[in-house]
Amino acid sequence: MHRYTLPAIVLHWLIALLIVGTFTLGLVMTDIPGLTPTKLKYYSWHKWAGVTVLALAALRLLWRLLRRPPAYADPMPAWQRGASHGLHWLLYALMFAVPLSGYFYSLASGIPVVWFGIAELPVLIAPDPALKAVLKDVHYWLTMLLAALVGLHVAAAFKHLLVDRDGVMGRMLPFSTRKER
Ligand code: HEM
Repeated sequence: MHRYTLPAIVLHWLIALLIVGTFTLGLVMTDIPGLTPTKLKYYSWHKWAGVTVLALAALRLLWRLLRRPPAYADPMPAWQRGASHGLHWLLYALMFAVPLSGYFYSLASGIPVVWFGIAELPVLIAPDPALKAVLKDVHYWLTMLLAALVGLHVAAAFKHLLVDRDGVMGRMLPFSTRKER
């Protein structure tokens, strides 16, 4: 069967949903002027969702190392195979780098992260205003890179679905999208 395993599919779509939500919340919350209760609530939700992405990304990477992706049903040019492989590993790297930069930004600001208000996560660094300024920019630019690469990833998936109709999209869905022969 030319399809990812169920755990890989569930993790893919759960993480995709959370990344879109966390990204949107990040833009909305930083746009709220002043220091309102709503803004503080959104910051907390943003951090909790982001840390959840980090935890799920770790699970996903572990699963990816245990189970290799299925073979492609149709032959694919070597450059396309290499490009998709490279993009997938960049996305893995950013699924870690983006939440980690946000996490360390929060710590450098002197604000510990209490996941869902229940579990205080390790305070690994002391407050540091200079590092805080750097990490703020790092978190922003890594996030924008992630958004651009997710855009490319989605565009490639839709090209396979609508133009090539080669079943590549169906590998990450619970049903097949392969054209009838
Ligand atoms: C997939 C994970 C994440 C995504 C996609 C994401 C995305 C974003 C975005 C789009 C912004 C707005 C940037 C701006 O317009 O200035 C932002 C800001 C922020 N993020 Fe994240 N983030 C993630 C994870 C995290 C985590 C795990 C934390 C902390 C535990 C965090 C802490 C923050 C903070 C404190 C800000 C506000 C920065 C400021 O004050 O300007 N983020 N994030």
